[in-house]
Amino acid sequence: MTISVLVVCLGNICRSPMGEAVLRNEALKRGITNIHVDSAGTAAAHIGEDPDERSTIVIVQKNVPISHSARQVRASDFMSFDYILAADGSNLRALERHAGRREGSKAVVRLWGSYLPDNKPIQDPYYGGLDGFKEVYEQCVKLSNAFLDEVAGKNS
Ligand code: 4NP
Repeated sequence: MTISVLVVCLGNICRSPMGEAVLRNEALKRGITNIHVDSAGTAAAHIGEDPDERSTIVIVQKNVPISHSARQVRASDFMSFDYILAADGSNLRALERHAGRREGSKAVVRLWGSYLPDNKPIQDPYYGGLDGFKEVYEQCVKLSNAFLDEVAGKNS
């Protein structure tokens, strides 16, 4: 069985494309191949854009491939994904208000940080410097492994 995961932030250019790339890479490192990972934004402002170059700089330094064209969350995501992981509380609330999240939608919608005991959001790095993007990267590695620890056993 393949599990499908959608990582969500606001613009889908900084945190979630990085999270998507890191989660796919951490799964690959564990030999997990039955996972499909994508990302999306709650806002429409950056649709069609490549990842922010600061996300790309940080992740390329880690030899993790990244390729994504920004898109907005759509109603069908709640039916097609098993897990939708929000970067922060604002993104989570937007997902919870989304019209696609109807009775019967299959996705488990959670703050990604809730897979670790400290339950921390991934802070928006957009208006800061490269250091913020490095922190996002490190947090995505930890959160990817916490997520995989919890779900991998259920789906093997
Ligand atoms: P992201 O970062 O949600 O991690 O992609 C942001 C990207 C763009 C903006 C804010 C955050 N913005 O205000 O345009």
